Amino acid sequence: HTLELELESIEKGGYEHFMLKEIFEQPKSVKDSMRGRINAHKGHILLGGLREYINKLTQAQRIIILGCGTSWHAGLVAEYVFEELARIPVEVEYASEFRYRNPIINEGDVVIAISQSGETADTLAAIELAKSKGAIIFGVCNVVGSSIPRATHAGAYTHAGPEIGVASTKAFTAQVTVLTMMAIVVAKTKGTISDSLYRELLYALEAIPDQIQKTLNNHSQIKYISSIFRDARNFLYLGRGYNFPVALEGALKLKEISYIHAEGYPAAEMKHGPIALIDEEMPVVFIATQDSSYEKVVSNIQEVRARKGRVIAVVTEGDKLIKQMAEFVIEIPATHEALVPLLSVIPLQLLSYYIAVMRGCNVDQPRNLAKSVTVE
Ligand code: G6P
Repeated sequence: HTLELELESIEKGGYEHFMLKEIFEQPKSVKDSMRGRINAHKGHILLGGLREYINKLTQAQRIIILGCGTSWHAGLVAEYVFEELARIPVEVEYASEFRYRNPIINEGDVVIAISQSGETADTLAAIELAKSKGAIIFGVCNVVGSSIPRATHAGAYTHAGPEIGVASTKAFTAQVTVLTMMAIVVAKTKGTISDSLYRELLYALEAIPDQIQKTLNNHSQIKYISSIFRDARNFLYLGRGYNFPVALEGALKLKEISYIHAEGYPAAEMKHGPIALIDEEMPVVFIATQDSSYEKVVSNIQEVRARKGRVIAVVTEGDKLIKQMAEFVIEIPATHEALVPLLSVIPLQLLSYYIAVMRGCNVDQPRNLAKSVTVE
């Protein structure tokens, strides 16, 4: 038993928990997701596993993305990226819902299934159903040789390395990285992005690992903020556009490991319900980076402030306006709008981690949850 414990502490590489190790591994895991696949200087991007079926993807009339949990959130980010860059309509579905209706699959529809473990029963069953209706299936999975990659026609592994913590962290950023690369390949082939945007995106992607590192370097500030809010009973997470799925993911992380009730919402939907919850005890996490919805988010922050909500904002480095309005701001480096989720999710992972640890929760194995759900 002591040997087992020792082994475990070696595997944790000096970190107190697997989750913390995996959060801090992200500069490397995202780089590993891109390794050998992208070269901005040469203007190259290549996903070998897609080659045989790439035409199906570029000519797709519609993309259906399937997943569960955090993988479903990565799918939502991909919806924004694919629609914006590749101009293909995308639907993102919970695998568990898709498989129990009689979903419509037309010729020219392509399915992308996302799964860290490659073993999620609902996702696997949804794939089999889509296949039986004639869809071409692409997989975006982490565990090599698992069931889902074996059931798909083609795919791209995320190469994030083993993820042990039940709450998914580095698998999410790896999924978003790979899906973004897929969208760029399709957009380039279809000619829906200019050469200069193509170049800009490749360089921006290559810069992400260092920018994640820079974001992680803020960990003590995030730990401090966590200590202020550790006893909160509820949390709201709000974001717009590319940051809406990040709001959902931030809320999921917090509820999974700290057992604090948290909800993620598109910031504009706040006035259709969640605003009723806001009082001086409600922490509201805004993901408010300087992108096309910045001004809209700023006015949402003012609405929360007017109701005495406590605002924690994730902002772009150097932001001055929000600093005057929010109680706490966490800065992340500037990047292309489509890549912001790769950075904005990092402080939310850390926030949930520190709060859970401060509450004495078992962060690596939260109650009632399993790392991979192989039963329905
Ligand atoms: C479980 C895990 C989540 C994960 C989800 C989907 O609920 O606890 O972290 O996001 O399954 O898993 P998958 O392996 O398919 O990505």
